[in-house]
Amino acid sequence: MYRTHNNGELHAADINKEVTLSGWVQKTRDKGFMVWVDLRDRYGITQLIFDEERTPKDVMDRCSKLGREFVIQVTGTVIERVSKNPNMPTGDVEILVSKLTILNESLTPPFTIEDETDGGEDLRMKYRYLDIRRNPVRENLIFRHKVAIEVRNYLSNQGFIEVETPYLIKSTPEGARDFVVPSRMNEGQFYALPQSPQTFKQLLMVGGLDKYFQIVKCFRDEDLRADRQPEFTQIDCEMAFVEQEDILNAFEGLTRHLLKEINGVEISEFPRMTYDEAMAKYGNDKPDIRFGMEFGELNEVAQHKDFGVFNQAELVVGIAVPGGNAFTRKEIDKLIDWVKRPQVGALGMVYSRCNDDGTFKSSVDKFFDQDDLAKWAEITGAKSGDLVCVLSGDKNKVRAQLSALRMHLAEQLGLRKNDEFAPLWVIDFPLLEWDEETERYHAMHHPFTSPKPGQLELLDTNPGEVKANAYDLVLNGNEIGGGSIRIHDKKTQSLMFDYLGFTPEEAKAQFGFLMDAFQYGAPPHGGLAFGLDRLVSILGGQETIRDFIAFPKNNSGRDVMIDAPAPIDEKQLEELHLRVELNK
Ligand code: AMO
Repeated sequence: MYRTHNNGELHAADINKEVTLSGWVQKTRDKGFMVWVDLRDRYGITQLIFDEERTPKDVMDRCSKLGREFVIQVTGTVIERVSKNPNMPTGDVEILVSKLTILNESLTPPFTIEDETDGGEDLRMKYRYLDIRRNPVRENLIFRHKVAIEVRNYLSNQGFIEVETPYLIKSTPEGARDFVVPSRMNEGQFYALPQSPQTFKQLLMVGGLDKYFQIVKCFRDEDLRADRQPEFTQIDCEMAFVEQEDILNAFEGLTRHLLKEINGVEISEFPRMTYDEAMAKYGNDKPDIRFGMEFGELNEVAQHKDFGVFNQAELVVGIAVPGGNAFTRKEIDKLIDWVKRPQVGALGMVYSRCNDDGTFKSSVDKFFDQDDLAKWAEITGAKSGDLVCVLSGDKNKVRAQLSALRMHLAEQLGLRKNDEFAPLWVIDFPLLEWDEETERYHAMHHPFTSPKPGQLELLDTNPGEVKANAYDLVLNGNEIGGGSIRIHDKKTQSLMFDYLGFTPEEAKAQFGFLMDAFQYGAPPHGGLAFGLDRLVSILGGQETIRDFIAFPKNNSGRDVMIDAPAPIDEKQLEELHLRVELNK
């Protein structure tokens, strides 16, 4: 038997027991005649003591060979510590060692296995198995497990059935590129890894399963960011005989349950906001509503003066920065430089200080008097002591720029508190989105999403205005889920493919199976998918999903530990009927 106890469970009540423990050497303190070793495993740390006077000589000799991260097994007696450590669960006791077996030696690890390590991100990724030994990483993985278990229990109790769908499929468009897998047995043909199980879950509804979920890997070949990985996990869900309201209620229930069980937070309000409102108030379809700083549109009060920049703009829009009048000139100049960075792209920023005596001092005093500036303050909701920041330009661009500034300032002012949770449904998304590159509309959510009732006709005259039965779930400024009510009849689905520029042949080749299924009594259905990685990281008070994934990819989509992707040998290429010609 390798152990009688783990390293986190022994305390004063165990004194005088003989125990056997196994684990890793965290550190050793050698006083010559006495050696202390911290022994670590997943459960904690227990202090071992090797004492020349009480420990057999062969054990003392072996002890002197121990290095960091050696794997050892010890047997000994639990004794009371002379100097207790109240910060450790096992801090009252130590083990007086009588037997020591070195189970495995270790090279010196390339970084310290401590909560605050000296290893940089790249190094930790390369030796991820060592990184996982550190408390913060291990705790994140355990946290993820707890969330996943809660999700499974909750959905199962609500009558959802977990069904696995295939990974080797045909391409499903979700807006990204596919990862493809060549078929050895079908020369020149490829599988695609699913960007989501979208079509399969719809087929499960046609199959009469009624309520489906799956915690499932999805694969998307897209540019990576802190909240995106090429392979990630969804909590994918679908329900039959539902309207949007049923779906929102069902998954509001899951979200409330998770916040309560995992974070101990009871959500009193679960607001809803239309896409149009979110864009107008926050310049963003995933607004962080934990703090105010809502947009105030200033066209009426800021245009038709002598300030040409505003007069030429499609939109003049501002926010009130709480306490922002305390910013020095230098700090404001830094903000102006920040919005002018290419990543944000504003041409400049106008500001107005709201003084304590009720007067205003703006960067455009030449064009605007105190009455004008009072109106800016009123519309943006600024109080004395605040700063009004104003941007202007093309509506969509300026909204995105001010949204970036709002988030930047909120971060700077400490308004994004990670133990506060503000979920929000964003509803009534546009059905279609204009793509500048291809100069055509494509489905904003996916092509299976149904337009709002009665809006199908608008597709001919004003496609950009058509709203969809589509919704996103936003938590603390992050899109943690999205879904829609689906089209469930062949005619409408064909029409949609037609609008999206598929020829009937293309639609049949790619989605014939779905349209065929729709001919055999497809029930009305809808659903959504949560991004599990995002959900877990936000519940865990962070926004980088990598930290909650055991073996993540880096920003170039590489696994630096196993060194993938990698070339394959000629024989494999041949079997797959592939010839690779590299453009050097
Ligand atoms: P959607 O594309 O909105 O919808 O994806 C659902 C959720 O998955 C998460 N997500 C990601 N997480 C990490 N890395 C990525 N690359 C990534 N891409 C998406 C987001 C997102 O909200 N089939 C539909 C769902 C439906 O209609 O039912 C779908 O996949 O949190």
